[in-house]
Amino acid sequence: MQILFASSNQGKIAEAKDIFLSSKHQLLSVNDQEILEHLGIIVPKNLNIQESAESFQANALIKVQAFHHFCHLPCIADDSGLLLDAYPNFPGVNSNRWIEGSDFERNVALLKKLENQVNRRAKFQTILCLYAYKNHQALFFSGEVSGQIALKIQGTEGFGYDPIFIPDSYNLSFAQLGVAVKNKISHRVKAWQTLLEFLEKN
Ligand code: IMP
Repeated sequence: MQILFASSNQGKIAEAKDIFLSSKHQLLSVNDQEILEHLGIIVPKNLNIQESAESFQANALIKVQAFHHFCHLPCIADDSGLLLDAYPNFPGVNSNRWIEGSDFERNVALLKKLENQVNRRAKFQTILCLYAYKNHQALFFSGEVSGQIALKIQGTEGFGYDPIFIPDSYNLSFAQLGVAVKNKISHRVKAWQTLLEFLEKN
C-alpha cells in the first residue's frame, strides 16, 4: 500500500524513508511528485500548517488532516518535543518556540531555568498519527527516550536540545553520541518502529 508522509522536512523524510525500506508498504512524500501526479494527486510542496494545538497528538492530527485533504491515500504525520519532569508539559509543544532565537539560545535558556533545580529528568516524545488507513480514522503511535538535562552544552552533532540531553545508560549528550547511536534509541525511531510493526500486522 502507498502511504503519504505529511512532512516537508527533508531530514525527517529521509529518516522515515530509510525505516520503510524493510516494509511491504511504500512511503511517499512531497518529493515524489511524479508518482503522486500519476496517482492524480497534487500536494503543495510547502504547506503552511499552524501547529497551534496543546498536545503532540492534536498537532499531528492537524498536520495529517491538512495533507489528507489533498489525497485519497492513508497519511502519517509526526509531532515531537522535549518534556521536563520539573515543569509539567514544558516546553512540550512549544519546544522550538518557548523562547525566540536559535537552538543554542534555547539551550542556554533551559539550562538557566534549571539552574537551581535538583530534578533534571527529561524525556523526548514523538507522536505519529496514521490517518485513513483501511477502516481506521486516526491511530496514534508514541516513542520516548528518557534521560537528564546536562549541566552544560556539550557536543556539536544533531539539532535542538541534543547538546543538553543525556539519554539514560549513557554519560554523553545526544550531540556527543552522534547520529548512529541516537538512531538506535531515539523517540522518533521508536515511534516509527511501533507504527511499522502495526502496519506489518494489519
Ligand atoms: P518536531 O515536532 O520533530 O519538529 O520537533 C519540535 C522541536 O522539538 C524541535 O524543533 C526541537 O526543539 C525539539 N526536538 C524534537 N526532537 C528532538 C531531537 O531528537 N533532538 C533535539 N531536539 C528535538
